[in-house]
Amino acid sequence: MATRMRWLGHACLLFQSDGGTVLIDPFLSSNPTAAAKPEELNPDFILVSHGHGDHLGDTVPIAQRTGATVIANYEIAGWLQKHGVQSTHGMQHGGGHQFPFGRVKLTLAFHGSQLPDGSDGGNPCGFLITFQDGKKVYDAADTGLFGDMRLIGEEGVDLALLPIGDNYTMGPDDAVRAVKLLAPKRVVPIHYNTFDLIRQDPRAWAEQVRRQTPAAPIVLSPGDWIDV
Ligand code: NI
Ligand code: MN
Repeated sequence: MATRMRWLGHACLLFQSDGGTVLIDPFLSSNPTAAAKPEELNPDFILVSHGHGDHLGDTVPIAQRTGATVIANYEIAGWLQKHGVQSTHGMQHGGGHQFPFGRVKLTLAFHGSQLPDGSDGGNPCGFLITFQDGKKVYDAADTGLFGDMRLIGEEGVDLALLPIGDNYTMGPDDAVRAVKLLAPKRVVPIHYNTFDLIRQDPRAWAEQVRRQTPAAPIVLSPGDWIDV
């Protein structure tokens, strides 16, 4: 089947594809804009980009209930093992691995990664995922702009997910520059309007993307599905 993606609000993404259902950064029960409750989701895999609460979110209870394998950096995978998650797969930046749904490569991200109890969550990451149908998705997760996004773009990105909220991540202007470096076919803004500090106008941002790049911007509402 064709890979589909649902934005569940903030940086939480759900993918349905051949080989399984993949949930990324499931910040749901504490997110007033979340489009789903953790109990409604049955992922086979959960990807966690870094240790902050608005990304780790409900990972532990969802993994405990469903038996999902959590894919994260080595430090977060180890921390989850100590907090009751049975199945984890630790990786590090630049490394890739083939999973039933596709290949996951951890990409750089410039950010922090402290876990909720103050533990060291290693280095934050983004994800480059090549699904079984060949579609390539880049989720930048929380990061500032960096020039090596051009290298990620060289791999041929079908869909990019970029934060535009500013303050903790790239803001709208740098996110447009990221689109130029990544040259994705389509791009979806995330990590904005969850709370006041990251309030942005996604439609104004989309207009800048249309004006300055060949990429097609797609503004979603929490809960919306798109074909990848
Ligand atoms: Ni963060
Ligand atoms: Mn965040």
